[in-house]
Amino acid sequence: MTVQAQKLRVIRLGHPVLRKIAEPVPEDLFDSGRLHNLAADLIHTMRLEEGVGLAAPQVAESLRLFAYWLPGEDEPEVEPTVVVNPEIRPVGEEMEEGWEGCLSIPGLRGLVPRYRRIKVKGRAVSGEPVSLTADGFHARVLQHEHDHLDGIVFLDRMTAMRSLAYEPEWEQYVLTAEDEDPETE
Ligand code: NI
Repeated sequence: MTVQAQKLRVIRLGHPVLRKIAEPVPEDLFDSGRLHNLAADLIHTMRLEEGVGLAAPQVAESLRLFAYWLPGEDEPEVEPTVVVNPEIRPVGEEMEEGWEGCLSIPGLRGLVPRYRRIKVKGRAVSGEPVSLTADGFHARVLQHEHDHLDGIVFLDRMTAMRSLAYEPEWEQYVLTAEDEDPETE
């Protein structure tokens, strides 16, 4: 039976669930209809909202999973993927700044320092273990989404608040001024 994915409402900054530490997905939820549905809804909603990532707390589900994808413009494509109970650790100490936005903070962009390379361990919706190494924009997206599971948003990570900009102004003044930086989404 195929279930039609639902578009979920994305909550915005100020909603208390965005600031909670999300609960690990319990063992009995793996491979369940509920988790498959939630994963499909996260991917569906992420695509409709034109985001590259969406964490369960952003749809008011305080559980440790998120969806993401990479369109494959400046880096290899990653198909829409859901990672459950992820653990992230940096590979090396190198950090770099890059532009981020967030569906829960619509309209704003800011420069955020992130680890250049990370290792992620987690589970798939089926329960299968997953493990991957990511760098650059891929690593940035994963760190941004993982932060949502700990009640952290990109504004909390910004060290240069002066870079904060509304999207139309960012496109007009910042994006055109920058040498096409591959890390700029
Ligand atoms: Ni976000």
